[in-house]
Amino acid sequence: MTAAPRPWALLAELTHGCPLHCPYCSNPLELVRRSRELSTAEWTEVMRQAGEFGVVHTHLSGGEPLLRPDLAEIVIAAESAGIYTQLVTSGVGLDEPRLAALIAAGLRSVQLSLQHADPAASDRIAGYRSFAAKERAAALVRKAGLPLGINVVLHRDNLDALDAIIQRGLDWGADRIELANTQFYGWALRNRDALLPTRDQLARARETVERRRQRLGGTVDLVWVVPDYFDGVAKPCMGGWGAVSLTVAPDGTALPCPAAASLPDLDPPHVRDHTLEWIWDHSTAFNRYRGEEWMREPCRTCSRRTEDFGGCRCQAYALTGDAARTDPACALSPDHGVIRTLTDAGHPAGAQAPARTGGYAYRKPGGG
Ligand code: SF4
Ligand code: FES
Repeated sequence: MTAAPRPWALLAELTHGCPLHCPYCSNPLELVRRSRELSTAEWTEVMRQAGEFGVVHTHLSGGEPLLRPDLAEIVIAAESAGIYTQLVTSGVGLDEPRLAALIAAGLRSVQLSLQHADPAASDRIAGYRSFAAKERAAALVRKAGLPLGINVVLHRDNLDALDAIIQRGLDWGADRIELANTQFYGWALRNRDALLPTRDQLARARETVERRRQRLGGTVDLVWVVPDYFDGVAKPCMGGWGAVSLTVAPDGTALPCPAAASLPDLDPPHVRDHTLEWIWDHSTAFNRYRGEEWMREPCRTCSRRTEDFGGCRCQAYALTGDAARTDPACALSPDHGVIRTLTDAGHPAGAQAPARTGGYAYRKPGGG
């Protein structure tokens, strides 16, 4: 097995519980029940080990991490371990006393999700009346002086409102706005037909981002997460398998990426059975697609393999049934036709977005 450099980032999925029901959620269809979540003591131990192991940054995520009443204790554990904490939240449940307690515990920054610039559309996409809570949460974070990031998952239903979405993020005082084109895993894969944009929508959105970037002159960071289905280029997913970050799911399953639970036969390790160090260095799951030995042609001899690591294993599995194949998002993949069929069928170049939107399988326990 390859000796791997230490990870620096930990995605701590504290719970799959969430008041929202976003159809693009990357959580698995089989959500972990609240009763199976790690305890406070177990998360404290995960943070201690992570800090000792070299992790310097953690996203406290979910689901909705504010549903954990012990969130401040977990933040204290991370802070004591020397780990920078960012809360990834819908904003629902964030009031002034809660935020003050989290800041006292050591919370360093907040990333707030936004579904649309228009309150009614945002609530419709989220499947929950949450826009007002988001607006309040943004104001509280700014008042407290914490860095604020706004995260927007982009799809057919909101791409045409991108300019207004960016404006909303600026009005709320964001330092950074992440414009993340939908990555099709979990619930997003299930809702792919409803979420997949047209090429025209994407072209207009790119222009909007460029125009806004020029106007902002670098004062606010606009991050564009590429729509890999449309670009013909594989993304360097997770910075490589088992290369820079690890995910701990709500029940303590350790994964090389949040979507890897969908891979059959991965046999992921568990933090109750092994230390993070053993998991990272020795588990079969973290070594399976690490480095280049697992690669087949065309990746094996491709000059881009050190930059994109052959793309995304979970996407290769989702689209071909074999996680070791070249990511079909890559134009060089023998399976690229699968993607072209999806992006072209019903979405020919120049077509307008269908007038009817929605019709989602909303995320909820039990598979929707
Ligand atoms: Fe990347 Fe493999 Fe495509 Fe080359 S063939 S660009 S390594 S995904
Ligand atoms: Fe799992 Fe890309 S999401 S490797």
